[in-house]
Amino acid sequence: MKKKSSSKDFVWRRKHLLGLKGMSADELIHLFNTAEGFKEISQRSIKKAPALRGKVVGNLFFEDSTRTRTSFALAVSRLSADIVEFTAKASSLSKGETLRDTARNLEAMGIDMVVVRHKAGGAANLLSQCIDACVINAGDGYHEHPTQGLLDIFTIRELRQDIKGLKVAIVGDIAHSRVARSNIWALHTLGAEVFLVGPPTLMPSAVSQLPVTVCHDFDSIIGQMDVLNMLRVQFERIGSPVIPSLLEYSRLFALTEKRMEKAKSDVIVMHPGPMNRGLEIEGTVADGPNSTVLRQVSNGLAVRMAVLFLVNQASKLPADERIDS
Ligand code: NCD
Repeated sequence: MKKKSSSKDFVWRRKHLLGLKGMSADELIHLFNTAEGFKEISQRSIKKAPALRGKVVGNLFFEDSTRTRTSFALAVSRLSADIVEFTAKASSLSKGETLRDTARNLEAMGIDMVVVRHKAGGAANLLSQCIDACVINAGDGYHEHPTQGLLDIFTIRELRQDIKGLKVAIVGDIAHSRVARSNIWALHTLGAEVFLVGPPTLMPSAVSQLPVTVCHDFDSIIGQMDVLNMLRVQFERIGSPVIPSLLEYSRLFALTEKRMEKAKSDVIVMHPGPMNRGLEIEGTVADGPNSTVLRQVSNGLAVRMAVLFLVNQASKLPADERIDS
């Protein structure tokens, strides 16, 4: 995928952003080009665009979040829309109301778009079927986290121009990672070669159905990689112990300064956050010259502005010209 190769008259048709599986290369490129425009706005002294003036966005987070939630809130405000913040703990969900009823009530108050994070895979999809508002998936269970996948690839694209042919290792707890899944689908669509690295117990059960190469020996492949995307071990999602010892895990899979000596000198080091410094990544590597951790966060804002802008555009198309799934 070369930068800027999508046509100017490409029409974005997706009313919802539910996942990156099935999204075409043209769609991904159009989204990245749109995000580049918004990044430029973010660098001006007046950082606002009137694109969504008068629109209302609901930020529905049923799971904890720092980056994704604030990034969406800021993206909404930069596009001049209003945001309604909603957390499960402070809502009627704790009194037994269903997700669907909660969302329909919010919609009855005039919400145009819903950003949703939920512990159940498929929650965003379900919502998109029962409300008229645009739905943006901010992470559903282990399923997908499309805006994280997009911002990761947008960041790689900024540094390398062409995704095609790059070797990308996603390292760590793949089994519980929605970030990994979104990255895998879009990287594959854009022609990258994806390697999943981690212990067998942290690989997804249906890994053979994914377009990836599985590797349990990080040291044997690190030298060939262009990108290392380090994942957190998601202890809150793990029911029974899957790692016999944290020390052992770190010894085999952590990105340490020592291990970096085996990597290409310009390797891109990524992490979606939150980082467990000292477990999956050494602090000096996370803060080191190859790390794009904070660049990812900055780019997330532009990518989310692009997503909000595009789904809103699609929602105005006649039903037979839109993609509603
Ligand atoms: C990720 C998530 O919530 O899926 N974080 C994020 O959104 N930046 C990854 C994680 O929690 O480890």
